[in-house]
Amino acid sequence: MKKWNVANVRAAKGREKLGCCTAYDACFARLADEAGVPIVLVGDSLGMNVLGYRTTLPVEMSDTLAAVGAVSRAVKDAMVVGDMPFGSYQCGDDEAVKNAVAVVKAGAEAVKLEGGVSVCGLIRRLVGAGIPVLAHVGMTPQSVNEYGGFKKQGKTHEEADRVLADARAVEEAGAFAVTLECVPSELAASVTAALSIPTVGIGAGPVCDAQWLVMHDLLGLNEGHVPSFVKQYAHLADEAKRAFASYVEEVASGTFPPA
Ligand code: KIV
Repeated sequence: MKKWNVANVRAAKGREKLGCCTAYDACFARLADEAGVPIVLVGDSLGMNVLGYRTTLPVEMSDTLAAVGAVSRAVKDAMVVGDMPFGSYQCGDDEAVKNAVAVVKAGAEAVKLEGGVSVCGLIRRLVGAGIPVLAHVGMTPQSVNEYGGFKKQGKTHEEADRVLADARAVEEAGAFAVTLECVPSELAASVTAALSIPTVGIGAGPVCDAQWLVMHDLLGLNEGHVPSFVKQYAHLADEAKRAFASYVEEVASGTFPPA
């Protein structure tokens, strides 16, 4: 297995499609790494999947740093990307650089942050400081209150032009890859063709250079509504509940522990 880094992720564009996912703890990060996942994102979706929030907005730097530390101690070959939580880079560029440095010191090899043209100055500073940046355009979940929900972006000509302009701008600012979240697949195809850096899609169709899946979706750990773009490759919630119930039952009936 090779060690994934900025250079070979960039070089994979047009050659190899990368199936990437999130992880938030050492146990699942190690499993993903051993299975060959090339990029493990400590996403701010940690807020929903681990901390029980309804959005990513409440996630704190301390949550991110703990999770990045756990994940980076567990993986060997995957590249670890740390998501900058809401408020950690909207607070002025000096503070944002300090926060990104903390994410790298915790073990991330790159940071991800949301926004296009509006964050290009910060991307330039981070890249200038030696911190690789994976950008994120299209539907940016930290803007949920602005959108009035997690809504697909880029559906009108005007929105599509803005997504393309954002993607071009983050490439020009030095991002090594860009997440395209919840945009029409034709738009994702145009952006992917227009950029020389890889696009990592989620809810953006099959043409992107790479894909994200949130680990809890991929493994079927989340119950309830499954977004249409998600594929569950396992149903671990059912399996886990079966195991808990058997344990409770065996203790109650005296079968466990054995005599
Ligand atoms: O936090 C997250 O899960 C993300 C997705 C785009 C993968 O940012």
